[in-house]
Amino acid sequence: MSHENPPAATPAASDPEVVLSAQLEALARRFGNRFLLEPSPDHELPEHGMPAVDAMRLIGEELVLDGIPMRNLATFVTTWMEPEAQRIIAENLHRNFIDHAEYPQTAEIEQRCIRMLADLFHAPGETTGARTQGSSEAIMLGALSLKWKWRGRREKAAKDTTRPNLIFGGDVHVVWEKFCRYFDVEPRIIPLQRDKYTIGPEDVEPHIDENTIGVAAVLGTTFTGHADDIVGINDLLVRIKHERGLDVPLHVDAASGGFVWPFLYPHSEWDFRLEQVRSINVSGHKFGLVYPGIGWLIFRERSDLPDDLVFYENYLGKTDATFTLNFSTGSAMVLAQYYNFIRFGRTGYQYIMETMQANTRALAQRIKDIGVFSLIGDGEEQLPLVAFQLAEEHAYDEFDIASQLAAERGWMVPAYTLPPNADHVKIMRALVKLTLGHTLTTTLANDIAEACATLEQKGGLHERDRQRVKTGTGY
Ligand SMILES: Cc1ncc(COP(=O)(O)O)c(C=O)c1O
Repeated sequence: MSHENPPAATPAASDPEVVLSAQLEALARRFGNRFLLEPSPDHELPEHGMPAVDAMRLIGEELVLDGIPMRNLATFVTTWMEPEAQRIIAENLHRNFIDHAEYPQTAEIEQRCIRMLADLFHAPGETTGARTQGSSEAIMLGALSLKWKWRGRREKAAKDTTRPNLIFGGDVHVVWEKFCRYFDVEPRIIPLQRDKYTIGPEDVEPHIDENTIGVAAVLGTTFTGHADDIVGINDLLVRIKHERGLDVPLHVDAASGGFVWPFLYPHSEWDFRLEQVRSINVSGHKFGLVYPGIGWLIFRERSDLPDDLVFYENYLGKTDATFTLNFSTGSAMVLAQYYNFIRFGRTGYQYIMETMQANTRALAQRIKDIGVFSLIGDGEEQLPLVAFQLAEEHAYDEFDIASQLAAERGWMVPAYTLPPNADHVKIMRALVKLTLGHTLTTTLANDIAEACATLEQKGGLHERDRQRVKTGTGY
C-alpha cells in the first residue's frame, strides 16, 4: 500500500472541483474503495483495472441484492455443502476435467462415480455413462442415443428414418422439448389432466408407432415432485414388444428423484430393474447434494451407447474417448460428488433423505393447520417438498401469498400454474433441503400464516406488485 500524502493542488488546478477530485484520487490510492464513487463497469472493458480487494468488494456488494440461496425454496439445487467438500472444490477449480491424460486420477474418480450410480440403479452388469454439466446435458445425450439407436434399427430394416418422434408428458422439464427442437424430433406431448399431474401407460399407448425413438418418464416432477407410472409404462412397452415387435426404450428422467427414491422408497421399481429402462439421468447438484455443475447419464448396458456418438481423438499424446456436448469443464464438482459418495455412503444418504422427509412432513402438517390450504399428492411417493394450494376462493391467491411472504421475510417460495391441460391449477411449492431444519420449517409455516393474515386484511396485491412475484418453478 502506498503511504504518500495527498498532493497539494497545483496552481493550474485552482478549480475547487478539480482539487477535490485530485485529493480523492490520492486518498483512494491510500485507502482503496475508489469504486464506491463510480458506476460499476457495465458496458465495455474498463481501461484500467482496480485493486483486487475493490473488485472483490464491488461484486460482493452487488450480490447482496440477490436472494439468499438458503432461503430459495424454489430451487432443487444444493445450497450447502460441508466445509471439507468446499475445500476439495476450492482446491480443484483449476483442474480441467477433459485433460484425462494429465489428470488420469480425476478421470478414474469419474468412472468410480458412474459405476456406483449404475450399481445404485441396479444395472444388470458392467456398463457405461457420462459426467455432464447437469441433467439437461445428460438428457440431450441420452435422447440422442435413443435417436441414433432407432435410426440404426430402421436402417438395418431398410425403413424410413425421416420422422422420429419422442413421447413424454406435459409434466417434464423444458429440456425435453428443447431436445426435440434442437435435434429434429417430433415431440408427442401428453397433456396433463384436471386432476392428474403425471402420466401412465394409458396415456402413452395411443402415441406409440414405429417411429417412436423412446418414451421419457419422470421420477420426481419439477411441478409437484411425483413420479410418472414408470412400472405401468414399462409393462406397456414390454407388451408392445411382444405383441407388435416394436422395441421402444424407456428413459427415466431422475434429475431429482434418482437420489431420493433409492433411499426413501427402495422397494419401488423405476430403474434398471425394469426391462425397458435403457438409460437414466440424475442431477448430482440436486439431491446428489453437490453444488451446481454436475449431472450424470447412466446406460443400462454398454451397447445402449451408440459407437458413433463417441469421439476418439488424439489429444495431448493420448487417445481419448469423449461423449459430451461440452469439452473443457471443471473437475471440482466430480470430485465433490465422489466426496459425498464416500463420506455418506448408503446409510448417510438415507439418513439425510429421511431427515428432509421428516421436516417435509412437519412443514406439510403445519401448513395444513393454517386452515386455508390443501396439500397436493400428500401421502404419495414424492420428493422432499410441500406442494400446496388455497382450498377455497379468497380475496387473494397463491401469487399474492408468494409476494407477501417474500416482502415480509425474504422467503422465496414460488407460485405457478401447472402445464396444460391443468393450467387452471395454481400451486405453491417449498423444497425442504438440508438447510431447512425443524425450527425453520416452523418459522416458515408461521410466516405463511402471517402473510395470509395480512392479505386477509388488505386484500390481494396491486397489479404492479403482482408483476414482481416469483413465478418460476425453480430448478
Ligand atoms: C425433472 C427434471 N429434469 C431435468 C431438469 C434439468 O436439470 P438440470 O438443471 O440439472 O440441467 C430438471 C431441473 O429442475 C428437472 O426437475
